[in-house]
This record gives sequence, C-alpha cells and structure tokens, in this order.
Amino acid sequence: MDKAAIARATEHFGKLLEVQMKRMERVKAAPDWIDYSKVKPLKIGILAGDGIGVYIAAESKRVLEFLLKDEVKAGTVIIKNIEGLTIENRAAHKKAIPDDVLAEIKEYQITLKGPTTTPRKGDPWPNIESCNVALRKELDLFANVRPIRIPKQGIDWIFFRENTEDLYALGPYGIDVDADISIDFKLITGPGSDRICRLAFEHAKKNNRKKVTCVTKANVVKTTDGRFLENFYRIAKDYPGIEVDDWYIDIMTAKLVDEKRRRDFQVMVLPNLYGDILTDEAAEFQGGVGTAGSANIGKQFAMFEAIHGSAPRMVTEGRAQYADPCSMIRAAAMLLGHVGYPEKSRKLEMALDITGQYEKKLAITGRNTGATGKAFTDYIMEWIVSPKLQAAWEGYVKG
Ligand code: IPM
Ligand code: MG
Repeated sequence: MDKAAIARATEHFGKLLEVQMKRMERVKAAPDWIDYSKVKPLKIGILAGDGIGVYIAAESKRVLEFLLKDEVKAGTVIIKNIEGLTIENRAAHKKAIPDDVLAEIKEYQITLKGPTTTPRKGDPWPNIESCNVALRKELDLFANVRPIRIPKQGIDWIFFRENTEDLYALGPYGIDVDADISIDFKLITGPGSDRICRLAFEHAKKNNRKKVTCVTKANVVKTTDGRFLENFYRIAKDYPGIEVDDWYIDIMTAKLVDEKRRRDFQVMVLPNLYGDILTDEAAEFQGGVGTAGSANIGKQFAMFEAIHGSAPRMVTEGRAQYADPCSMIRAAAMLLGHVGYPEKSRKLEMALDITGQYEKKLAITGRNTGATGKAFTDYIMEWIVSPKLQAAWEGYVKG
C-alpha cells in the first residue's frame, strides 16, 4: 500500500475542507436580498461569450433595449456590454474569469450572458474551470431557475437547480491518488440545501403552485443526497398548504416522458448535477435547449443565460447567424420579471410562445434552410408591439 499517496490525498482533502468551512461562514453571514426597486440606476451588463453567444447576445440585447427604452432614456436603467469573457482572453490569463473582468461584472447587479466555451482535458485550450461555474460561485448565485412551459400540452414546470455545490463545487479539485485511483468530491451543505429548497417553496407559495417535488438519488448516495432530502422535508413543514413528494433521478427522467404522470409535476428542486441533466431533457420537449432560458439567482447578484453551450461547430461551419436566439431572449424575459417589470416579461414570453410554438411563420433550423436569428428576433418584436398579442396567445393556448 502506498502510504505516501494516502497522506497526500488526506492533506489535499483537508485543504478542501478548510476552503468549504470558510465558504460556509460567508454564506451564513451574507447580506439579505437586494431590493431592485431601490437600485437607481439599475445596471445591466451584457456578456457576449463565445461562438454563437456573440450572435444571440446581440439579438437578446436588442430586445431588452427595445422593452426598456423608456427606462434607459430616463436614466433609471443602464445597459452596457462587458468585454473580455471570451475563451481567448480567459485562456491568455489561464483563469476562468480574468480579474479585471470579474471586477467589472461586480459593478453590475444584473448580467445577461451568452454561452461560453468550457474546455476539457485534451482540448487545445488550457483546462481552466468553466466560467459559468466560476461566475456562479463568485457571485454566490445559488439558484439556477429553469422554467419549461408547453401551454398547449398543459406542461408548466419550473426547476430549482442548486447552483454552487454538489459535484460542481469541487469539480476542478479532484485528485489522482495513485496510478489507479481518481476521486472527485461531492459536497452538499445544510445552508446550501436549505436556501434552494426555501426558494422553491417560496416560488410555489407566491405563484399559487400546489406541489413541490425533490429529486435526488438518496437511496444510493446516502450522505449528501440524504442531507438534501432531509432538509427538503424539514423546510416543507413551513409550507403546510403545499403538497410534497420526492423521486430518484433515474425514474424522474422516465416520468417526465410519461404521458400519465408528467403533468403532475410543477416545481422541482434538486442538486446541481441532476438539475443540469434533467433540465436539458425537459427543454427538449419545449423545442430543444435552444428555446430554454435560465436565471442564476443570488441575494446580491443575478445572471441570466441560455441553458446550452456555445456551439463552436456552428461558427466553423459558417452557420452562426442561423443560431436560435430564443434561449437568451427567454433569459431576458426572466431578467425583466426578476428586476420588477412583470408586464414586459409576460409580453415577451407570450411573443416567444406564439412565434416558437404556435404561429411559426418563421422557423429556425440552425442552417440556411431556416430563418436567421436576426429575422426571428424581428418577428418576435412584431408580436411584442401587436395589439393582438394577449388575445392571440389565449386563443392559441386554448386551441
Ligand atoms: C448549464 C451548462 C453548464 C453546466 C456547463 C457549460 C458548465 O451545461 O448551464 O447547464 O453544466 O452547468
Ligand atoms: Mg447543462
């Protein structure tokens, strides 16, 4: 037995624990929720990202500027690009987020972010940490909120994916113990699971949703998922009017497809990796990951983004202008709702539903057989200003 390898691994583990214990102190001492109605001016930063990000960020910025034009004119909202979160710049600095870019991001309460390239072992880029994951950690964006709505099928799901813990928290800090053994670390904390579960229940309460479902693999991953599930049921006691249940991740992926059961689910709360996987599956029913937006919410900052990657292949094949901007535009709709413009958010969501799921006058195919992202965005904006928007949406949904 290689005793030295064990000693090295033990020391490594000890260091990780020190970092996490300090993080727990910060989480417990963190200031409470920011009140956007008191933030003047509200600063919204646009991070274009890589690959198709540059294209779809430009379109979603255009929609945001259009819907907030009065506020921008009055100076109560500022919308500006933040440069430098590109893979080239991150690779040059060998950092998930270069320091000056991070400092600038922190000057904005809100960011709308395009997909960024995440290198992995063997890529031409240095194997730096995902900047999504780093940003979520740096800004303590603990909730990844991902709605999936297919009104015509009666599906209205919202996923509360824990965003700062689980296998992701220590993703870059695994250890090759010896020539044979590699170990990664899965982390779940009490405060971390409490705050995500509470947010899911609060959402259910405010939006009159009747049921919250917890998804884990607590039968096998007993300690960490076990803690998450235990905390879920403890928090549930504070919300006696809301029905609760829990499922294991494997059967849950099956139940989302089950015609007899899928409409029973409303609000779902789950650890990071299960949330990553399940929300891609859920998005597929809505028309693909290109149609799904997400909100990364923390108490002081929030970042809104598509749920998919930067699709570098579309750029090298010369098809980037045909990328679907709807994921990021959905994220922009969530942003508007989050900072206090529920009417504008609702309008944009209705326009997205009509153009993407019902009228479908234009279609995005990702190539020149379909509309460009720009043309599709124009189409969405035509509906936003249409006096028929509300009635048309209701008509379509009722079928
Ligand atoms: C997502 C993405 C990211 C994640 C990647 C790009 C690191 O898949 O936002 O779901 O795994 O969280
Ligand atoms: Mg994902």
